[in-house]
Formats: sequence, C-alpha cells, structure tokens
Amino acid sequence: MILGDSELRELGFASLGENVRIDRRATIFGHEHIHLGSHVRIDSFAVITAGPASVEIGSFTHIAAHTYLSGAQGGITLGYGSGIAPFAALYSAVEDYTTGRLTNPSVPADLRETSVGRIVLGPHAAVGSSSVVLDGRHLGFASAVGALSLVNRRVRPFEVVHGNPIRRVGRRPEVDLRRRDDELVVRAAAMGIDVRSEPGGSLAGTS
Ligand SMILES: CC(C)(COP(=O)(O)OP(=O)(O)OC[C@H]1O[C@@H](n2cnc3c(N)ncnc32)[C@H](O)[C@@H]1OP(=O)(O)O)[C@@H](O)C(=O)NCCC(=O)NCCS
Repeated sequence: MILGDSELRELGFASLGENVRIDRRATIFGHEHIHLGSHVRIDSFAVITAGPASVEIGSFTHIAAHTYLSGAQGGITLGYGSGIAPFAALYSAVEDYTTGRLTNPSVPADLRETSVGRIVLGPHAAVGSSSVVLDGRHLGFASAVGALSLVNRRVRPFEVVHGNPIRRVGRRPEVDLRRRDDELVVRAAAMGIDVRSEPGGSLAGTS
C-alpha cells in the first residue's frame, strides 16, 4: 500500500529522490519542508512533522512503523543509511516539565517554555525500538541506541548505548563499518547518488 510516483510528486516535497516508498497510512505534515533522498522507506503509521524547520531524510534510510518524528520546531536530519525502529520518537522541541511554566500546545505559548534544537543522526546511526531522542541531540556516525532508551546526551560515532538515561555499553567495529560504508558510497555513486554531500553526510568522516 505505498504511494505511487505521481502521487509522491503531487505532495510537493522540498526535494524527492528515486525509489521512495511511503506507506499510505503514514501521516506527514509540512511536505514543502521535507527533503527526501533516494531509496527511502517510510512505513505505516509513522508521523512526521516539519515546518518552519526542515526535516532532511538522507538516502538509504528507513523510518519504521509507529515512529514519531517531530521536526517542525527544531528540525531533524537523518544521515544516509540511518534507521528509526518501530515506536521510536524524535522530539526536536521539548516542553519544560520541571519549572513553573504550563505545558502542552493547547495553552498559550507565552505561558510555556520549550527547549528546541535540531536532532542530527549521522550516517548509519540506528535508533532502537521505542526509544526517545530529545531535542538537539546528535548521534554520531554508525552509533547505535538500544531498544527502550532515553537519549538525553550526544552519542559519539560508533558508540553503542542503551538504557534510561543512556549509558555506553560498547563500540561498533569501525574498520568493518567504514569498509561497508565505502562500498555503499561507491554503489550509490554508480546510481548517481552522492550520499556524502547530503545533509548529515559529512559526518561520515568523524570518529
Ligand atoms: C543495545 C543492544 C544493541 C545490546 O546488544 P548486546 O550487546 O548483544 O547486548 P546483550 O544482549 O549482550 O546485553 C548486555 C546487557 O545489557 C542489557 N541490555 C541489552 N539491551 C538493553 C536495552 N535496550 N536496554 C537496557 N538494557 C539492555 C542486557 O540485559 C545485559 O545486561 P546484563 O549485563 O546485566 O546481563 C541490544 O540489546 C538492543 O537493544 N538492540 C536494539 C534492538 C532494536 O530495537 N532493533 C530494532 C529493530 S531491527
């Protein structure tokens, strides 16, 4: 039940690559603020909000079922090859639950306090099922967040973290990942896709 090519074009995304598969039951707000690379899959019941801030979705990415990408206020960047597992949520704006401010978008904005910042996933970063990523956090190249985690700090390249709040539990093998990343870059280039020049793509050089 995916949208056809002409339907995708009519939605008016800011940019749209090749072989983009979006399930009809995904809910997307602010198409004109959303950039989509190539070979992207967005599954049923994913919800994505954008505008005025942009949501940049790189090539070879997967946004699984029942995910929530709240990018409207702070923006979200998903580097190529990154993935969001089912039921995970990325909040680029988070209301302050600790002070005397009121909360929730139905009360006037001047009575609330919201912390806002772009969430950036480097290439091949993986967010496990039912995890939550707070505003402004960066996940480095090929980092991994285990299931049911709260990402309340930066995750370094190749780092494996899990828990609430996250703690470091390991490091993914850099040599293997770089070799396979190089292979993907070459294959993408053969398809006319320059993944390293996409938003977040330059983070591939970090370690
Ligand atoms: C974080 C993860 C990558 C760790 O994998 P691993 O290194 O093989 O971990 P292990 O199974 O050896 O567990 C190591 C320890 O961490 C604990 N642990 C593992 N994953 C955890 C998680 N997500 N949250 C809290 N604790 C976790 C284990 O209970 C174990 O604890 P112990 O040392 O006290 O016995 C993995 O457990 C995970 O969560 N993967 C993401 C799965 C997912 O959501 N995939 C998306 C669909 S494909």
